[in-house]
Amino acid sequence: MTTITAAITAVGGYVPEHVLNNAALEQMVDTSDEWITTRTGIKERRILKPTSLGTSFMAIAAARELIQKKGLNPSTIDLVIVSTATPDMPVSSTAAYVATELGATNAFGYDLQGACSGFLYGMSVASAHISSGRYKKVLLIGADTMSSIIDYTDRTTCVIFGDGAGAVLFEPNEEGFGLQDEVLRVDGNGRSFLKIEAGGSMMPASAETVSARKHFLYQEGKSVFKFAVSNMTRAVNQLLEQNNLTKNDIDYVVAHQANKRILDAIAKNLALQHDQMLINIERYGNTTAATLPLLLWDYEDKLKKNQKLLFTAFGGGFTWGATYLTWAYNN
Ligand code: UT7
Repeated sequence: MTTITAAITAVGGYVPEHVLNNAALEQMVDTSDEWITTRTGIKERRILKPTSLGTSFMAIAAARELIQKKGLNPSTIDLVIVSTATPDMPVSSTAAYVATELGATNAFGYDLQGACSGFLYGMSVASAHISSGRYKKVLLIGADTMSSIIDYTDRTTCVIFGDGAGAVLFEPNEEGFGLQDEVLRVDGNGRSFLKIEAGGSMMPASAETVSARKHFLYQEGKSVFKFAVSNMTRAVNQLLEQNNLTKNDIDYVVAHQANKRILDAIAKNLALQHDQMLINIERYGNTTAATLPLLLWDYEDKLKKNQKLLFTAFGGGFTWGATYLTWAYNN
């Protein structure tokens, strides 16, 4: 029996036009370009305006770019997965709306909430749908409107996050390229460190929760930082080991863009060369589920058929992991 591998065959992306740079943040909270740059590596981030456009607006734009580049007929898409922590609305599936707007008339779709690991988990799910032989075209979108859940009076979070969306198409690959292996984990003890306290079933919205600012993202940055570095390092090491690979075999590490210092620490732990790590955090900040596909979008021209890529992410929950994928095409 031959196994069907699921490969990424196209990439699209979208970031909003509005740029929020460090100088503008200096006017909003007690911070400085120097602090933000040295502590996070971020220079600017994109903000969706007006917020009411919703995450679907960016998801649709990223997917449309992919569809146009690939010359894809949307009616041939089987499944649309939107990985997001900021869906348009609770309950109603953002993916359903995205699929309909794209003209994916023969598709089903659902949202996947894995916080900053949402796209990484989505790669696993998209690939499994293809490998089962049941579906041929799965559109995976990572999209987040972080500006809709950030308190722009809280300097500890507002300097970090930005908005954006990236999309990839997964298809069966006859040469064996695509997703090869993964190490995916959760630790529910992590939820006190990175959360939005209100608005869910445990604490529904009320006048009190709004006035107490409990609908904004809260994170205990220092702890999250340490868990992120140690868990992503461990997941990548395990993945290398179980595939008999060394770090020298890897062409690129595609890591969640949460903080440049986290990326530097992982690179140091794994003894990676500077150019093995794809980085764009300085321009977008942390876009949660969109960071990994936005890296692919920015670096697509560099990626060559048969190159070995290691993806890794860490986020709220906690959720984290690493995925090994071989690239399937030359641009
Ligand atoms: O994507 C999901 C996962 N999330 C992450 O991976 C985020 C992980 N955490 C981080 O990236 C970092 O912890 C932060 C960037 C959030 C914070 O950096 P840090 O180096 O851990 O700073 P800290 O929280 O220890 O704060 C150090 C100091 C504090 O002042 P004192 O108490 O030493 O006087 C903060 O109040 O820096 C202060 N500070 C700021 N100063 C200027 C915190 N935020 C700012 C700011 N501007 N924006």
